[in-house]
Amino acid sequence: MFAINERSSGIVVPFPYNQDIHDTWMSDRVFHRLSKFIHSKLGIKVPPVKKTMLEARLRKRLRHLGIRSYDEYCDYLFSPEGLQDELHHMIDVVTTHKTDFFREPVHFDYLAQKALPALLSKDFPGGGKRLVVWSAGCSTGEEPYSIAVVLSEVSRKLKRFQFLVLATDVSRQVIETGRTGIYEEEKIEPVPLPLRKKYFLKSRDRSKRLVRVVPGLRAKVIFRQLNFMEDYLDLREPLHIIFCRNVIIYFDRKTQEMIINKILRPLTRGGYVFLGHSETIHGLDVPLVPVAPTIYQKI
Ligand SMILES: C[S@@+](CC[C@H](N)C(=O)[O-])C[C@H]1O[C@@H](n2cnc3c(N)ncnc32)[C@H](O)[C@@H]1O
Repeated sequence: MFAINERSSGIVVPFPYNQDIHDTWMSDRVFHRLSKFIHSKLGIKVPPVKKTMLEARLRKRLRHLGIRSYDEYCDYLFSPEGLQDELHHMIDVVTTHKTDFFREPVHFDYLAQKALPALLSKDFPGGGKRLVVWSAGCSTGEEPYSIAVVLSEVSRKLKRFQFLVLATDVSRQVIETGRTGIYEEEKIEPVPLPLRKKYFLKSRDRSKRLVRVVPGLRAKVIFRQLNFMEDYLDLREPLHIIFCRNVIIYFDRKTQEMIINKILRPLTRGGYVFLGHSETIHGLDVPLVPVAPTIYQKI
């Protein structure tokens, strides 16, 4: 598909890079429609100051679809066909996926040195046969794999136990990346060297500079798509730990309270919750007591 860029003296450029798309802006009416929908569908608040960011993120979709205006995009998105084919792409681009291996390392120290020894000394509160951890809002998998590395190490060094890490996210695209367990080599720099050697394999094609999580560890991490606003975690065994970090920061207080109460339901009493360092439950009516900064236990 080709179009003429009128400002450049008739030079023909491929439509996806056409200047017209670059200059397209979102009307307040369309912004309102979209931000209301994103809030009700995902819980994410998009205040007017984020309009430019929303425009920039959705521009990729307009380009991809060959749509010339946000009005047209909005009509397509809310059509039966759009809700079927486009909605998940819209979710992929409006959600923020920043993550890292061993992000906020004090959490992993607390997990290894305090939470796991406490849980293991009681033979799994809730009576399960294995330790279950939920990485809620797992993005591309760096967080659940970091958790699995720690569980595997503690299981070797402290006391043998079975474990499972459930990794969920609303974005289909990040779940797919997590499932493959393939990352660029520099992504694993935060992983201590001996653990890098043990839990990651370098790709044979050295020009690619990719690594893959070893099959034994990948088998311990199960990825599923889950939207906190619409779904419940349906677990048939006790859940012992939840990592829900850098997720609720995108929600307003009312939604934070509702979602925290919802995700806490399958957590066994005495189970641990890890939030991100800029997140707080202060003022929220949730059954948690702090045990360390941003780390809580369910009461
Ligand atoms: C910034 S990432 C955090 C990743 C990881 N927890 C960390 O701290 O490194 C936030 C993740 O929350 C997910 N998310 C946002 N809204 C969600 C919702 N309503 N349900 C489930 N996941 C959601 C996003 O798709 C994104 O991958």
